Amino acid sequence: MSSRTEIRILLVDDNPAIHEDFRKILAPADPTSASLDEIEALLFDAPTPTAAETASYELVSATQGEEALRLVEAANAVDRPFALAFVDMRMPPGWDGVETIERIWRVDPRIQIVICSAHSDCSWSEVRARVGTSDSLLILKKPFDTIEVVQCAHALATKWTLARRLRAQIDELETSVASRTHELQQANTLLAEQMQERARMEVGLRLAQKLEAVGQLAAGIAHEINTPIQYVGDNLSFLQDSVGELVAMGTAMLAAASSARTEATAPLVGQLEGLAASADLTYLATAIPESLESLTGGVARIAKIVRAMKELAHPGPREATAVDLTRALGNALEVTAGAYRMVADVVTEFAATPPVVCFGSELNQVFLNLIVNAAQAMEDRPGKRGTLRIATRVDGGDVIVEVSDTGAGIPESHRERIFDAFFTTKEVGRGTGQGLAISRSIVVDRHGGSLTFESTVGVGTTFQIRIPIAGPTRRAQAAAA
Ligand SMILES: Nc1ncnc2c1ncn2[C@@H]1O[C@H](COP(=O)(O)OP(=O)(O)OP(=O)(O)O)[C@@H](O)[C@H]1O
Ligand SMILES: [Mg+2]
Repeated sequence: MSSRTEIRILLVDDNPAIHEDFRKILAPADPTSASLDEIEALLFDAPTPTAAETASYELVSATQGEEALRLVEAANAVDRPFALAFVDMRMPPGWDGVETIERIWRVDPRIQIVICSAHSDCSWSEVRARVGTSDSLLILKKPFDTIEVVQCAHALATKWTLARRLRAQIDELETSVASRTHELQQANTLLAEQMQERARMEVGLRLAQKLEAVGQLAAGIAHEINTPIQYVGDNLSFLQDSVGELVAMGTAMLAAASSARTEATAPLVGQLEGLAASADLTYLATAIPESLESLTGGVARIAKIVRAMKELAHPGPREATAVDLTRALGNALEVTAGAYRMVADVVTEFAATPPVVCFGSELNQVFLNLIVNAAQAMEDRPGKRGTLRIATRVDGGDVIVEVSDTGAGIPESHRERIFDAFFTTKEVGRGTGQGLAISRSIVVDRHGGSLTFESTVGVGTTFQIRIPIAGPTRRAQAAAA
């Protein structure tokens, strides 16, 4: 058998002489007397165990059932439980053996019990009727046979030890299964998050592809408009110059004719004056240049918008390139004017920022979305003309762009969700809830920057974009170094 240490045995008997008998058998004072394992070896013709393998019993005595129960409770409290108990059947004046066993098992159901009884005490069927069938219970008839006692103690102690080891192994297994389950759950959560992230990116990608197609179309149209608008502009300024000269010439000619009026030329001069009056030459002399001036202004504005559209809609290079963000923001303001002009004034606070290495056309989408969001927030707050503020500044190695509005603000309950794909508070057709999800993916995932906001309900909202000046790749390399 394997090595065991300190098996604790409880002896419960009202007769002190019986305790002595047990001690002589199970814990002989004479060290030369045979150990249990040596007896076993003798009995079964097995090899004699070494000292390290032999068992030692610690015997604890109780003369009454109540005392035995207290000892069991105390042993469990210090985690030194009894492996088995020899319990006498009759122990007047206290509990009898069966009651003692019932109570002990309520406290420690694992303890192995040997009931010691004389024939007349109680029948096996009576015992079974009271404590039930149990494989932890043996009966030992009095008077004892030494070998029977030794064998009982030995077999039950071994059984108890093995059961204890098995329980420890099961506990260990359960702990390891629990920890594996926990790891699996964590892996599962991570996988679910990654799948969600992937779905979000796929949505973003699909929309980006759609936007790219629309952008290409817009760039093509802008390019087509750009050429005619340029010659419209050129011809207008030619007209402005020449019509001015023509009007000045006509006015001067009329004045010269009037001042050189003679009797002979009077009818001709009168005819000229009549023509000038019917054409309202004096009015035309001021109105035509004014009209041409305003036309030139309008055409210049169209040209500016078209140029902005062309630049903005241009898909841009695949690699990050140095971009003037102030110019990009100016373009974004230009093409979104229709969204905010009626509801807000624009204030720009552009600091001198160095060119930023970025994916310019993607950042343009972010600017457009933030400006349109701001405009819509102010549109939703009628009665008060708002202010759209766009500011830039340099902060260390980053450029910061802020888009502020004086809209209604973002309620607390929405703040966690505004970056979620498809989260929108706008009616169908006005918003799809993808703007901020895509913006964040562009700023954070593509550029290694950040997109944050501050909002006060009833006051307004500021979105802040932080983009590394050195570009996404170099920042990532620096972080890795
Ligand atoms: N400046 C802002 N002020 C108040 N609420 C805002 C502001 N910007 C965003 N939100 C809130 O966040 C939501 C999500 O914005 P997001 O740009 O992602 O989608 P959307 O504008 O609703 O639709 P889309 O951009 O696809 O047209 C908006 O519906 C709105 O409720
Ligand atoms: Mg939006």
